[in-house]
Amino acid sequence: MPAANLQDVVAEIAAEMKARDDRGDVATYIPELGRVDLQQFAIAVIEKDGTLTEGGDCDSFFSIQSVSKVFTLTLALGLAGDRVWNRVGREPSGSRFNSIVQLEYEKGIPRNPFINAGAIAVTDLILSGHQPREALGEILRFMQFLSGEDSVYIDKAVAASEERTGFNNRALANFMKGFGVIDNPVEYVLGVYFHHCAIAMTCRQLAKAGSFLAHLGQNPATGHSVVTPERARRINALMLTCGHYDGSGEFAYRVGLPGKSGVGGGILAIVPGKASVAVWSPGLDASGNSHLGRIALEKLTARMGWSIF
Ligand code: DON
Repeated sequence: MPAANLQDVVAEIAAEMKARDDRGDVATYIPELGRVDLQQFAIAVIEKDGTLTEGGDCDSFFSIQSVSKVFTLTLALGLAGDRVWNRVGREPSGSRFNSIVQLEYEKGIPRNPFINAGAIAVTDLILSGHQPREALGEILRFMQFLSGEDSVYIDKAVAASEERTGFNNRALANFMKGFGVIDNPVEYVLGVYFHHCAIAMTCRQLAKAGSFLAHLGQNPATGHSVVTPERARRINALMLTCGHYDGSGEFAYRVGLPGKSGVGGGILAIVPGKASVAVWSPGLDASGNSHLGRIALEKLTARMGWSIF
């Protein structure tokens, strides 16, 4: 069978996803996210040679939420190296993204850097010794640098919305503080965490930002070496095993790629050696992952033969 044409496949997926009735439900526990139009869908694929293939609402900015945790982990590993692993584990949790149950059994050490507790502990490492504004500026500049676009921004309305309703995250952070896992004042750490979750980008920008993970740590568009090949492999391994919380097994089974989702409805997926893919559809499934985003990626990998398995 001749290889599928990526442009055709992306156009077909975008048209199908736009038309589907089953769209999942927008997250409402962050009230500002509940206002996003459920009908939107976007996909962007950036290949090694820089070819960009887009479909759907590719100029729409969306809240990347937990997808930011891939980039905060990357920054924290750069700042603290393997000390990160004294604070968080590397195992799937099998629990919801905001679960607190394992934390008591495991003495305040979160299972992995992608569940909320783990990402809050990672944010504490980035913050260490700095003012919240400085740490946040560093995270935002990193996203702008990786995507090559200054228009990436922090949606202050989304951050304020989560700041008003983030009681669960406050509980997680205080619990970890009680175990001595958080160094900085809890409100500083959460302020940075809520704001980096509120980073807004387009699918094109997100795909570009993730490109270094598809190419052994180096962004092929710029030649910049962001992390070592070994570190890129390990971040991908964590995305595969933990990137979709208690839906990670299902995502690996259906899509077969390292991926990271966010409750804004975005997913970053990595096709090692080939491409970085971002999809966005704001309706979520029961695990809090983009419903149509996952289906779109499943179709993309099947048609292109891109599963890593
Ligand atoms: O902390 C939260 O609940 C959100 N800022 C991020 C959660 C999230 O995106 C989970 N992803 N599916």
